[in-house]
Amino acid sequence: MAATARRPEGNEPLKVLVAGVGPLGKNHARVYTELEGVVLEGVVDSDPARAREIGEKLGVPYFAELTRELLSRVHAASIVTPTPTHADVARQCIEAGISVLVEKPMTTTVKEGRGLCELADAAGVTLQVGHIERFNPVVLSAHPFVRDPVYIECDRIHPFSFRSVETSVVLDLMIHDIDITLNLVDSPVVHLEAVGAKVLSETDDLASARLTFENGCTVMVKASRVAIQKSRKMRIFSRDSYLSLDYIAKTGMRMGFKEGFDRSKIDIREMAKLEEDQGSYPLFTKYFSIEQLHVASDEPLKSELQSFLHAVRADRTPVVTGAHGLQAIEIATRIQEKIRQQQEKLGRL
Ligand SMILES: NC(=O)c1ccc[n+]([C@@H]2O[C@H](COP(=O)([O-])OP(=O)(O)OC[C@H]3O[C@@H](n4cnc5c(N)ncnc54)[C@H](O)[C@@H]3O)[C@@H](O)[C@H]2O)c1
Repeated sequence: MAATARRPEGNEPLKVLVAGVGPLGKNHARVYTELEGVVLEGVVDSDPARAREIGEKLGVPYFAELTRELLSRVHAASIVTPTPTHADVARQCIEAGISVLVEKPMTTTVKEGRGLCELADAAGVTLQVGHIERFNPVVLSAHPFVRDPVYIECDRIHPFSFRSVETSVVLDLMIHDIDITLNLVDSPVVHLEAVGAKVLSETDDLASARLTFENGCTVMVKASRVAIQKSRKMRIFSRDSYLSLDYIAKTGMRMGFKEGFDRSKIDIREMAKLEEDQGSYPLFTKYFSIEQLHVASDEPLKSELQSFLHAVRADRTPVVTGAHGLQAIEIATRIQEKIRQQQEKLGRL
């Protein structure tokens, strides 16, 4: 039987814990210590030496497991343990009436994810999923200009990190772009194709998928964790503009029609001739404007955790809900299944 959801009253500080203080969890813990009105009551890691290292560094209590006593003292928790453990660790917190931010992917399976959403609903706690790119200033800079997208391309390429290899690159990296594009397109996926390959790990290290949405938009997503260099880009083609985002360079560019542009009055063939004769780009310079987007310098993790804590304190729906996290896993699972079918056909299983 779940405890009643625990939320701070009035100006009471919001008390939090972080479960799992590996490479990402240590940053959750650090950010909590930097936020006003927030008290980090403790860090938990099943590796006692790691728990101690981070606890001592931040000057907070540390634990090798979630204790009843710690659970009874906090309002909210970040779950930053390896993905296969999210469901179990989050369940312990939710059953104690604690709101949770569960890192992405929320769980490894749709069944576990659905169970977690139902549990959080029944307990009345806030469940947010760590799809951090929703808080990335590069993505946010493009938001006001995304209208009725027709085609989106996403590339997310990373050197091999030896981490998260228990989950495929689809759940590990591609899920970021799945979540962003589901949010931008806001229409059901009606068709999906995918290919992929294992290179260094037991799960897929490379994947490429094409999603077709009911409203006609197409999304091409590509993810790799066996590249030489990092690259994260998104290109969004809408009816009235083209947006090009580079997450690593932290830049965004928008190309749009100049005021008064009327496609029906332009003879494209005439323009092609002009280009050939002049060796310039008359169509571009005459009809299109190009502008750099203003990209804020906010730390995405800080914005994400502030937004989570605001939702907890005010008992409001978070920006990235459990349902969003579940939707992303559902699409990721369908992509993995398509890859499996393709590999089976090629006899590569
Ligand atoms: N949002 C993002 O951009 C992003 C980036 C990186 C990782 N992640 C996600 O964050 C999670 C953690 O990633 P990581 O790379 O830090 O993982 P990691 O495996 O390197 O570290 C996880 C830590 O959790 C500890 N741990 C394991 N089981 C535990 C348990 N039951 N209770 C308490 N502690 C436990 C481990 O000892 C380790 O210190 C994963 O789900 C990953 O997908 C998200």
